[in-house]
This record gives sequence, C-alpha cells and structure tokens, in this order.
Amino acid sequence: MHFSSAHIIALYQQASHRIHSGEHVTHLAHAWQCGRLAEKSGASLELQLASWLHDIGHLWAHPGAPVTDAAVKGHAALGSKLLEPLFGLAVSEPVRLHVLAKRYLVSTRPSYARKLSPQSLKSLTHQGGHLSEDECADFERHAFFAEAIQLRVWDDLSQKDGWFEITIQDALDQLEGLMQSVADQCVT
Ligand SMILES: [Fe+2]
Repeated sequence: MHFSSAHIIALYQQASHRIHSGEHVTHLAHAWQCGRLAEKSGASLELQLASWLHDIGHLWAHPGAPVTDAAVKGHAALGSKLLEPLFGLAVSEPVRLHVLAKRYLVSTRPSYARKLSPQSLKSLTHQGGHLSEDECADFERHAFFAEAIQLRVWDDLSQKDGWFEITIQDALDQLEGLMQSVADQCVT
C-alpha cells in the first residue's frame, strides 16, 4: 500500500482522543506541542515536521491500541521508514534518531534523566539504556545529530496537560499545510 499524507492525517485524527502511553496528553496534543516548540525555536520546516511526526511509528503499528514497552523499541525506525519516501532524510533521520538521542542525553548529561517522565524512564531500558563512549562519539558525528537532539528536547517538553490552544481540525489543517510545504521543497 502506498503510504500518503492522507494516511498521516487519518492516523492523527484517530489519535486525537488517544492518550499518549503513560502520559497525560493525547497523541495529537503531544505531536502538536512538539511541532509548536520547533516552530517557536525557528526550526526548519523539515525539523518542524519531524517534530510533529516523530511518534508516527506508534500510531501506524498499533492504531487504537495501547502502546507497550516492546512496541516503543521499534517505533523510531518504523516512523522513519514511513516518512523518508514522502519527505526525505531531513524529516526521517531526526525521527529515526530521536530515541538514540534520549539514550545519548541520559549517558552524557546526568541531570537529564531526572527530568524524564516516569514512562520515558521506564521505556529507556527497553530502548537499550545508556550508550558507551564510542557509541556517543559515533552519534556526535552523525549528519543529523544536532536535529535529533533538538527534537528530543522538544519531545520531552511536550507532555503538558491542557496545552492545546487550537481545535482538532485546525491542528490537522496545520499539519496538512506543513506536509505540503515540505513536500513541495523536498528533493529526494
Ligand atoms: Fe514523543
């Protein structure tokens, strides 16, 4: 089946009432908050879209079902596979790397783990835990290292109960417009 922007909108529409696993916000609110933080930070359109869609692997793999720890492990790779043909590496790579970025931050900044939500700390073990020094150095050389770290920081901040100053339809319209803008300038 050809995966398209219409599928993405449908997934986030379904996710508008679904609570993000173990957190206090819906998947749609989490995605919108993350995209909004990227936009406020002056991120490129690609990174704004990556921020919006970073958890799409969860929604695609398990539409309507609770997200388990086992499912958490592969969602970044799955999401990037879905997004690369549509929007290119500037969107798919930060998505693929956002779990690795969490492992990197836990390994390099002692204060970071203390700020993670209980659910995010719990899933860390299933995601592979800390990185070795060599793994950290490898990651720092990655072309999308900086973007992955930025996305991760916004991801962690996007669990705010009650922060959704927009209707569901307007949020989906924003997402559709952003996808169109990125697709228009995407050279794969
Ligand atoms: Fe997330």
